[in-house]
Amino acid sequence: MINTTTQSATSLNVDWLVIVASASQAFPRDLQNLDRAVNGKVSGLWADDEFAGDYCQTLALRQLSDITPINLLLIGSGQTQELTPERLRRALLSGLRKINSRAGLRVAIAYAESLVESRSLPELIESSADCVSVAAVDAGVHKQKPTRFPFDSVTIATKTIPSDASQRVAAGKAIGAAVAAVRNMVNRSAIEMTPQQMVREATALANTCDLEIEVLDTEGLAHENMTAMLAVAQGSDLPPSLVRLAWRGNPNSSDEIGFVGKGVTFDSGGLSIKPTDSMIPMKSDMAGAATAMAAVGAAATLKLPVNVTAWMGLVENMISGRCYRPGDVITARKGTTIEVQNTDAEGRLVLADVLSYAIDNGATHVIDLATLTGACVVALGEEITGLFGGCDELSNRLQEAAKQTGEYVWPMPMHAHFDELLKSDVADCRNIGPRWGGAVTAACFLRKFVGTTPWVHLDIAGPSWADSAVDWRDSGGTGAVVRTLVELLRRWPPTSNSAD
Ligand code: BES
Ligand code: MN
Ligand code: ZN
Repeated sequence: MINTTTQSATSLNVDWLVIVASASQAFPRDLQNLDRAVNGKVSGLWADDEFAGDYCQTLALRQLSDITPINLLLIGSGQTQELTPERLRRALLSGLRKINSRAGLRVAIAYAESLVESRSLPELIESSADCVSVAAVDAGVHKQKPTRFPFDSVTIATKTIPSDASQRVAAGKAIGAAVAAVRNMVNRSAIEMTPQQMVREATALANTCDLEIEVLDTEGLAHENMTAMLAVAQGSDLPPSLVRLAWRGNPNSSDEIGFVGKGVTFDSGGLSIKPTDSMIPMKSDMAGAATAMAAVGAAATLKLPVNVTAWMGLVENMISGRCYRPGDVITARKGTTIEVQNTDAEGRLVLADVLSYAIDNGATHVIDLATLTGACVVALGEEITGLFGGCDELSNRLQEAAKQTGEYVWPMPMHAHFDELLKSDVADCRNIGPRWGGAVTAACFLRKFVGTTPWVHLDIAGPSWADSAVDWRDSGGTGAVVRTLVELLRRWPPTSNSAD
């Protein structure tokens, strides 16, 4: 339960009082009341240089006898001029994750005045609710005993309560829950998180959020001539699926936003097999599909006035007597013939068919989410999403949304000469280019299946997965770009529907 109060934070009956303060040389004046209540213990920390509000700095004072909250947690958010929404969340999470190893805790959160001035109260409230949900996510999803727990109650203590406080709490909760859902799906091993399990996750979400759902099985895919997607799937004992999950929040609008997700539940590379070390994290190759699903779920929870659909291509890329081979020529749903030169470039084959299916079935604006290339990670590192745009307006909107959420996306080029690199002697195209520019040739391959519909491709191979833990999150799935997609939907302009 999350609520807001104007009651004095020091009199709240909670286990932990969390104070977030920005960096400052001198002890912040607005914390003086708190400081007096604890007999100068907090200002003493400043004087001794123990705590000064530095970015992600945390300090816990336990078993205080002077105030009602027994324990006090100080969180530094760093210099106000450097503060972004992402840095604020990282600071909050760094702190909350220090105390949530125990179940049943009641927590209050209060912000120093400098933060309220630089970020605005509504944003602080939303971020609090968001981070409280995300803080409980644990990489150890298969451990017998959980090591992190949700808080029993959360009270956000502020001087005044903004008029949109309850909407902001609801938004933060929904967005945090979506990020958490992606992390949990990505973190579960591929033996569990199969294409069929992803279908079950989507079905459960459809039931709770009142979404429309349609599932195509192998037969349905064959009926739709999705031979490229089926080629990837055929080496696995697990049947593939295509899920359409739709939230129709604005029947008056002709805009139908489509989030097309790569859902390879395990990527062995196929016959172009990956070395063991590269294969281990490949349970995360369904992150795009999970992201699409969770973003649509958040839109529905928040009843956003937009029409948005997740299109998820769910397959496993395996090796067997039935698997597809290098040298095979397959015909995509769109009719394009593709010479397979590398069975590890499977995501683009799946997306080729799902993109054309989504567009033929009503998507007017398409964003695909895919852990598509290691080359994108080489280019941009582990934290930046590569943005490849066919459509400038959509890509601008997405970048604006990313600026708002503080997530990192960066535009990449797609010059026409890259298309030359995908030519084949025997077919219309091949599924890989030469070594250099691998993220771009992958995007250019996808473009062949899009046509004129506004489209943006997000390569999340780097940011969707973390190899190691940091203060603000565990290793494993991250839920990258979920917040940005939801933000895009929140600011989606209403259309006059002049088309009809
Ligand atoms: N799923 C991988 C991309 C990937 C790599 C995601 C590292 C996350 C971390 C994709 O299917 C793949 O194998 N891509 C190949 C393409 C190559 C064969 C042209 C790659 O990046 O090596
Ligand atoms: Mn692959
Ligand atoms: Zn893959």
